[in-house]
Amino acid sequence: MQFKSLVFLHLFSLQCLSYICLVQSHDFFFVVQMWPGSYCDTKRVSCCYRAAGKPTDFTIHGLWPHFNNNSIPQDCNRKNPFNKAKVSDLTTKLEKTWPTFKCGRKSSSAKFWSHEWTKHGTCSEDVLDQHAYFKAALNIKDKVNLLEILKNAGIQPDGKFYKLDDIKEAIKAGTGYNPVIECNTDASGNIQLYQVYLCVDSAGSSLIECPVTLKRDTSIELPML
Ligand SMILES: *[C@@H]1O[C@H](CO)[C@@H](O)[C@H](O)[C@H]1NC(C)=O
Repeated sequence: MQFKSLVFLHLFSLQCLSYICLVQSHDFFFVVQMWPGSYCDTKRVSCCYRAAGKPTDFTIHGLWPHFNNNSIPQDCNRKNPFNKAKVSDLTTKLEKTWPTFKCGRKSSSAKFWSHEWTKHGTCSEDVLDQHAYFKAALNIKDKVNLLEILKNAGIQPDGKFYKLDDIKEAIKAGTGYNPVIECNTDASGNIQLYQVYLCVDSAGSSLIECPVTLKRDTSIELPML
């Protein structure tokens, strides 16, 4: 009798494990930090600053669940909308490190967080609930000080041009992992550093080497702002 129930228990747990494997919501995350100066100096955008003022550092764009097959889950649970009350203890920090720069009375950083949660966060809600999701992004931001890493390599936000490879190497040396760099162009057409992508394990806690490559990383080997 005891033996039978043990076998049953064993089979049951195996089934649970394979079930969990089948419904895995994501394989890893991209954590994306952006350089506000490069968001704001393009032709298309004008920027407005909120309570926390003009940023002096990279800001968070998002924490995006991703699959190893390079597909991106999105909008996974409309029934779990963003609830500001759930992150009330993080709001001051979020205002500073995850702000919106959109102008207009109707836009707010909370709207940006809501967009990010609905589009991306709900796709990893089995691992990170709303509070844990935003906390995970803030924790990674605390650990990965891109501005300091670049400054230590002699790369300053001074409007001068740097080699893309030097920027990548500095970030690799400072974090231990290869970044993906996204560039954009300023109003005069100069190619500049816009966003830095790093990969984070499926629990949202530690940096990992990116399991996939992104197309945006190729063929931008040009001087940058
Ligand atoms: C990628 O993998 C996920 C998880 O296994 C799956 O749900 C999705 O359909 C796959 N997408 C493609 C394009 O193969």
